Amino acid sequence: MLQFMTDQIVEASEFRQEQKCNITLMSTHLAAAQSTSKQMSCSKASIVMMSSRVGSQNVAFNDGPEASLSLHYKCSKSALNMATIMISRELKDNGILVFALHPGWVKTKMGTDRAPLQPSDSIKSCLELISAAGEDIHGRLVTIDGEVLPY
Ligand SMILES: NC(=O)c1ccc[n+]([C@@H]2O[C@H](COP(=O)([O-])OP(=O)(O)OC[C@H]3O[C@@H](n4cnc5c(N)ncnc54)[C@H](OP(=O)(O)O)[C@@H]3O)[C@@H](O)[C@H]2O)c1
Repeated sequence: MLQFMTDQIVEASEFRQEQKCNITLMSTHLAAAQSTSKQMSCSKASIVMMSSRVGSQNVAFNDGPEASLSLHYKCSKSALNMATIMISRELKDNGILVFALHPGWVKTKMGTDRAPLQPSDSIKSCLELISAAGEDIHGRLVTIDGEVLPY
């Protein structure tokens, strides 16, 4: 019985996630369709994937032996990077800017106290980058300094 209830809760939460995704996509399409701007930008319509440099296969391949494994995290960000490429292709003709962003190594629960960046500094840089972003980074993985990382 407990397992059944847990399954129902998981299903309901997955359904809500899917609904949130659909609503977000619909509003992004609406924003793009209503905008008079021909240029891709966040003020027209954009989707920013919160990714990580560790999802770059190139970075992982060239990392030294000291790099931590965190296999599931790296694989999930790598998959998100692929989703960024595919979705950016899908939405290009709609003028919706799509890119993946590495927010830096940030002092959060996940980033730990060893991280050099305060959340407020990372967020400020993320917002600056997002507000200046254009077609040149469509489909790319970028850092908060605007560096385009190889996938
Ligand atoms: N911190 C870094 O150095 C760093 C570097 C690169 C990329 N990123 C990316 O930046 C994003 C934010 O990371 P963060 O450092 O802020 O991590 P964080 O401090 O660990 O916070 C993660 C947030 O995600 C929520 N969350 C976790 N699993 C969830 C789930 N299944 N459903 C809904 N919410 C869930 C957590 O909710 P609860 O608080 O309720 O658990 C928490 O609010 C992540 O995508 C991370 O991969 C972070």
